[in-house]
Amino acid sequence: VNQTQLIIATSTNQEHVDFLVKMINDVYDESESNIWLEGHKRTNSEKLKKVILDKELLLAISGEDIHGCIHLERIDDETHRFKMLVANPRFKGRGIGSKLVDYAENQARKAGSTKMQLELLVPTEVENNDKVFLHTWYTRIGYQKIDEQDIEYIHKGVSVFLKNDCIVKVYEKEL
Ligand SMILES: CC(C)(COP(=O)(O)OP(=O)(O)OC[C@H]1O[C@@H](n2cnc3c(N)ncnc32)[C@H](O)[C@@H]1OP(=O)(O)O)[C@@H](O)C(=O)NCCC(=O)NCCS
Repeated sequence: VNQTQLIIATSTNQEHVDFLVKMINDVYDESESNIWLEGHKRTNSEKLKKVILDKELLLAISGEDIHGCIHLERIDDETHRFKMLVANPRFKGRGIGSKLVDYAENQARKAGSTKMQLELLVPTEVENNDKVFLHTWYTRIGYQKIDEQDIEYIHKGVSVFLKNDCIVKVYEKEL
């Protein structure tokens, strides 16, 4: 998409936050429909406001339009992790995801990190097409699987909301 700008989100304006929460939850509802039971939501207004106040939410925007977002957080002295990478469905497949990942990697480098991590939640007994695509894409842009974790280890209490058993695959890239 032309004229995409990448910024660190600052506004906790309720309307703005509500738009982002709906975009994120709608995208995850669809992409992870064979992972979660009805009613499980990826985020909510309170959680997202905290991410914004912590200056951890990066946005792809064009004028007033929000094209996508990514949550970038520091894990330790040399490592950042990104999560909640979402392209607005109106602009999917037009380079927004790639731009957000590039931007997150550059921000992490600027902050002194030498590694970026991400976690893929993957069902073990059914196939999720989006996760297959993500594995292929992340591998192509330099991420390698370094670990597998039980979902409870990473997100305590969350497994009661699972429709299908899942494993957390941890990927890492040298920056
Ligand atoms: C993952 C996601 C953010 C990608 O955003 P996007 O803007 O659609 O992606 P891009 O247009 O930047 O494309 C990224 C790459 O995937 C390829 N691609 C995009 N859509 C594709 C598709 N449907 N099938 C195969 N390849 C595809 C592109 O060619 C590009 O490859 P390249 O880097 O070799 O050029 C988006 O699909 C999304 O919101 N998914 C649901 C949420 C999710 O799973 N997030 C990740 C959680 S870790």
